[in-house]
Amino acid sequence: MIDTHSHILPELDDGSKSVDESINMLKVLKEQGITHVIATPHFKMTDNKTSIDDFLAKREKSYQKLINKIERQGLDLPKIFLGSEVLLTMDLIEADGINRLCIENTDIMLIELPYYEWQSWIFRMLYNLCDNNFIEPILAHVDRYVDFISKDMYEQLFSLGYKAQINTEFVDKKAAHKKLKKWLKSGQICYVGSDTHGIDFRPPTFDKYFKKIKKIAGDDFIKNADDCSAKLIKKLEK
Ligand SMILES: [Fe+2]
Repeated sequence: MIDTHSHILPELDDGSKSVDESINMLKVLKEQGITHVIATPHFKMTDNKTSIDDFLAKREKSYQKLINKIERQGLDLPKIFLGSEVLLTMDLIEADGINRLCIENTDIMLIELPYYEWQSWIFRMLYNLCDNNFIEPILAHVDRYVDFISKDMYEQLFSLGYKAQINTEFVDKKAAHKKLKKWLKSGQICYVGSDTHGIDFRPPTFDKYFKKIKKIAGDDFIKNADDCSAKLIKKLEK
C-alpha cells in the first residue's frame, strides 16, 4: 500500500528534522505494510514567496541526502516518490510551471485547502488551476477541516468531482466519520496518507487505521482505496 501524504524528507519543512529521523519514519511505515511513500513537503507560495525553482532545488537536495544514506547502509525501505503539498492561494495562478509540483511521473497534485471557512473563490480557483493546467488534484486530508467547514460547503467541494485523501488519524475523529460518510461511500475519498511529520509528532499510524477503518467505512471503501493505491503505484512505476 502507498502512503500518499508524508513529510518524510529531512530538514525541509516542519516534517523530519534529520536524515536519521526520516529513516526511522520509513522503518515504521515499512513495519506497517507500506511499500511506497510519496514525499509531500509543503509548498506555500504566499507565506514564503517561494519560487518553484527554489522549492524543487531544496527538495532534491534533501531527497539526495536521504537516499544516499539509505543506499550506503543498504536498507530495504519503502520506495520514495517526490511530490508536494500545495496550499491553495490566490497567487498560485501566477506560478511559473506549476505542473512541476505534481507527483513525479504523473499529472496528480496534492492540494491543501485553507484553514478557514471557504469562500467562493476557493472553488473557482481550484477548478481554474486544475482545468487550465490539466492537473488531477487529490484534495489533501479532507478530514482536517471538519471542525469549521459545513456539510453544504463540503457538498460544493465534492461537486467538483475531484478525488480526496484522508489522514490515517481520521479513524479517531467521530465528527469526520459522520460528515464525510457520503463521499467515503461514493468512492471520491479513496486515498490514504499518514501526513507524518516525525517519529514523535504525528507519527505514522497505519496500524490503527487498518484496525478500525473497516468498521467505520465498510468493505467497499477498503476495496476502492486499495484500487486507488494500486493504480497510483502503477503510474509511479511506469
Ligand atoms: Fe501535510
